[in-house]
Amino acid sequence: MRVVIIGGTGHIGSFLTPMLVEAGLEVFCVSRGLKKPYRQDKAWQKVRRIDLDRTSEEKEATFGERIAALDGEVVIDLTCYTPESAMQLTEALSGRIGHLLQCGTIWVHGHSVEVPTTEEAPRSPFGEYGIQKAAIERYLLREAQENELPVTVLHPGHLVGPGWNPINPQGNFDPNVFSAILREEEITLPNIGMETVHHVHAEDVAQAFVDAITHRDQVLGESFHVVSPAALTLRGYAEAMFAFFEQPVKLQFLPYEQWSRAVSEKNARTTWDHIAHSPNCSIVKARNLLGYAPRYSSIQAIQESVQWLRENGIVSA
Ligand SMILES: NC(=O)c1ccc[n+]([C@@H]2O[C@H](COP(=O)([O-])OP(=O)(O)OC[C@H]3O[C@@H](n4cnc5c(N)ncnc54)[C@H](OP(=O)(O)O)[C@@H]3O)[C@@H](O)[C@H]2O)c1
Repeated sequence: MRVVIIGGTGHIGSFLTPMLVEAGLEVFCVSRGLKKPYRQDKAWQKVRRIDLDRTSEEKEATFGERIAALDGEVVIDLTCYTPESAMQLTEALSGRIGHLLQCGTIWVHGHSVEVPTTEEAPRSPFGEYGIQKAAIERYLLREAQENELPVTVLHPGHLVGPGWNPINPQGNFDPNVFSAILREEEITLPNIGMETVHHVHAEDVAQAFVDAITHRDQVLGESFHVVSPAALTLRGYAEAMFAFFEQPVKLQFLPYEQWSRAVSEKNARTTWDHIAHSPNCSIVKARNLLGYAPRYSSIQAIQESVQWLRENGIVSA
């Protein structure tokens, strides 16, 4: 079976593209050819690389047709950020594929009401990214219902893996927070540290995409959260990192407004985005229909990633 993966060299693709090869599939990987996968794998030798710039092809209205012409039975779309982009692709693929797998995000949910949030929760996204991703999901699931588009949408949490910075206990990407913990310094958390983050190892996300292919009939027209088994409070996360580095817990707390003055504008904005969402998503549906069984807890995934940051001098004492 031929699979076309769009954006197969990024955080998710670095695990998923080789996994598809290992599963015995013929894999065509579409990207601009700028980004190198985060991890080496001999499976890449069997991947057919297709260099295409989605943005410029979409402007010419040729992207959908270029993908359809690759004749994949399955298309995995990891780089879709607007409904227009989804439409161009699905219109070209309509009636020509067996399964379209779309990558969304848990940001399709705005603030939580009942937690863990289920896939059935009404969508109330905020922020451009979440609003657009929710609109894509709405469009695709409607196409599934009304026009039998064979689509499944997977919503990952904060991606973690060796090779890049995970969201830290302050809710942003600054790796110096881990270094400070390693040096036994006090770190300051916004508010009372009880807001949440919901990570997931990129390998578990990749496995969920493979599971969706193998459980096709059970998952058509459905969306799923793909996160670790449990979200973390910022405070619990910080405590676990002090324990990981065998340091005593040294925490201070400040109301967000005050806290944000001591960090860069970018870090403050990223933290706000995470604490305003405070995601805490359920994986019950994915477990039941997809057979999703994440290997990593949030902390295990983060600690593996921070170990990599240490070995590469990005986190240091
Ligand atoms: N990062 C997260 O924490 C997170 C969380 C939840 C959901 N997601 C979702 O996961 C999906 C994948 O995200 P990611 O973080 O794995 O992405 P990523 O690491 O940024 O990788 C993006 C991939 O798309 C390719 N690409 C980028 N622009 C392109 C273009 N114009 N034309 C063709 N290919 C292009 C890149 O290769 P080239 O640069 O070489 O083209 C690369 O293969 C996205 O839909 C995102 O919304 C991400």
